[in-house]
Amino acid sequence: MCVILYNDQFVARKEGKVDIEDRGYQFGDGIYEVFRVYYGKVFLMEWHLNRLQRSINELFLTLPYPIEQIEKNIYALIEKNNIVDGTVYLQITRGASGRNHLFPTNTNPVLIAYTTHLKREEAVVKEGIKVSLLEDIRWLRCDIKTLNLLGNVLNKEKAHQEGSKEAIQHRGDIVTEGCTSNVFIVKGGVLITHQADHFILNGITRMYVLELAAKLGIKIEERNYTINECLLADEVFITSTGAEVTPVIQINDHLINEGKPGPITEQLFSEFENEIKRMGMISK
Ligand code: PDD
Repeated sequence: MCVILYNDQFVARKEGKVDIEDRGYQFGDGIYEVFRVYYGKVFLMEWHLNRLQRSINELFLTLPYPIEQIEKNIYALIEKNNIVDGTVYLQITRGASGRNHLFPTNTNPVLIAYTTHLKREEAVVKEGIKVSLLEDIRWLRCDIKTLNLLGNVLNKEKAHQEGSKEAIQHRGDIVTEGCTSNVFIVKGGVLITHQADHFILNGITRMYVLELAAKLGIKIEERNYTINECLLADEVFITSTGAEVTPVIQINDHLINEGKPGPITEQLFSEFENEIKRMGMISK
């Protein structure tokens, strides 16, 4: 039977209750992480835990118990649910209290985590995707992985209705990121992506791909770039925990690289895949 983590207890899913005045439910007052599991092991666990701790700090939340124990519980959950290829979703809210915008003084944070099965071949679209260009309507602290995802949700849905798999969002002329991913462009052999500031989530996959690119000797620029640069790019791709490195071959009606994944995207895709395969060999 599948179990979930409810604070520090492993219980059946139907036993995980949310209080009607939980602040995550009422205000989106909480944070989350999505971890990727390959071969039963969490990919870049430490990086995710560091970001989790950062999100907690930025919202003046407290962890319900030490992060080392959270890590152990994540592994126990993976084992109990026999996850080999999948994800772990974990969220922490400020807890339940009489509805009031002010922080409550005597409330305990609530942690929940659950797992999913996810096959790589279902999550990664090697041949590339179409995306829509949409105005970024989110708040100004996109660097925090909060439960407040309405801006992302509305744009993701709009993109879907336009027949796209993702939206490339922009604030005015500047491209920020996707609804659930970071965006990279390649021009003249240079890899360009928005700098990690308040306008984007500093994706774990983004950081990992930048490391891979540096190792491969690819020139990197972390900076603002415009919609026009994106449309005129030689290559465009997105990164996320689920989508890994996914080529973008069409933006609205405009084809990128004549509708084919480009060479640097493919190089990073392969390198990413090799690293995961290596992880599998180590665990055997
Ligand atoms: N989303 N930017 C946004 C807005 C995201 O929601 C995500 C991930 C990313 C990529 O981050 P990472 O490489 O750490 O997954 C960038 C997750 C997967 C989600 O909400 O489901």
